[in-house]
Amino acid sequence: MSQERVFSLRNPWFTVSVGGTLAIAVAGILIGFIWLPSANSAFSERGLWATICSAAGVPSSWYGGGGNVGGTAPSDVVVLPPLRSVRADANSIGRGATIATQNCSMCHGVQGTVQVTAPALAGQYADVAYKELRDYQMGLRQNAVMQPIIAARSEQDLHDLAAYYASLPRAGAAEVLPSGAKPDATAVKLAMQGDPLRNIAPCAACHGQLDRKGAAPWLGGQSSVYLAAQMRAFASGARHNDINEQMRNVVRQMTPDEIDSLAKYYAAMQ
Ligand code: HEC
Ligand code: HEC
Repeated sequence: MSQERVFSLRNPWFTVSVGGTLAIAVAGILIGFIWLPSANSAFSERGLWATICSAAGVPSSWYGGGGNVGGTAPSDVVVLPPLRSVRADANSIGRGATIATQNCSMCHGVQGTVQVTAPALAGQYADVAYKELRDYQMGLRQNAVMQPIIAARSEQDLHDLAAYYASLPRAGAAEVLPSGAKPDATAVKLAMQGDPLRNIAPCAACHGQLDRKGAAPWLGGQSSVYLAAQMRAFASGARHNDINEQMRNVVRQMTPDEIDSLAKYYAAMQ
């Protein structure tokens, strides 16, 4: 038997086994740190070094990978579906009708508005009526008339009232344009297209004509007096129950003329 040393490059067993092990290790590193991470969609933005570091589990602050690793911060917007119609069973609507006839109809009418300062409620989205009632109850929307009326109502009453009004067909337009008159062009443009330069989103994108954002009321059929008063209240901050200042941000950019013209536009809509 030859006296060849085991740990020698001249020993073919040694070279083949160590070389093979190293080759497998290198292949494993290439696959694990480069090939697999490169299949990740963020690879091209991050570059090779950041990819290797992140695959090795190095904290992103060490190699300047920063915000790229997790992509941009996720949205923190919470989207709630509109109040489920499940509650709007016939019993709920019936109970709402009883309360409404005795306590609300003298101002809110049943079909159409009795008082110009009070909004028509027939056909209003249930989630809107419920939210506004809750806001009055909790003092988030202040009004000397509505707050005492609604103060002692139970949660179930509020749901019943909202379900009742949502179940009614919408009343007709509150105000009609003189025959032959077309709606004001400024109002139509703001309602349907908004004004991007002033950061005004189209009213119709939230209020239901084109699309609807949670809690945005249907505006058609309210008196122009009520609509303009609410817009001015948002503009001054006297009304501030709109979540994330959605309405305040819109009306603060508008001129008094635009507010009046939009109030007339919606009052003439069903
Ligand atoms: C004395 C008249 C009067 C009575 C009675 C009355 N309301 Fe009102 N309601 C108003 C006025 C005025 C407003 C507008 C207040 C404001 O500017 O915030 C209003 C606003 C509302 C709104 C907000 C609607 C919106 O589109 O923002 C709801 C919902 C409402 N009332 C429901 C009721 C219900 C339900 C009852 C019965 C329990 C009732 N109201 C009784 C006068 C009345
Ligand atoms: C980003 C969505 C959004 C846009 C755009 C928007 N609104 Fe609103 N608006 C709301 C929401 C939400 C409310 C209800 C706020 C609350 O009481 O919670 C509201 C409330 C209102 C009210 C009060 C109605 C009532 O019954 O109380 C009026 C009037 C109104 N908006 C008019 C407009 C007009 C006119 C435009 C276009 C110039 C417009 N809004 C654009 C979201 C929007």
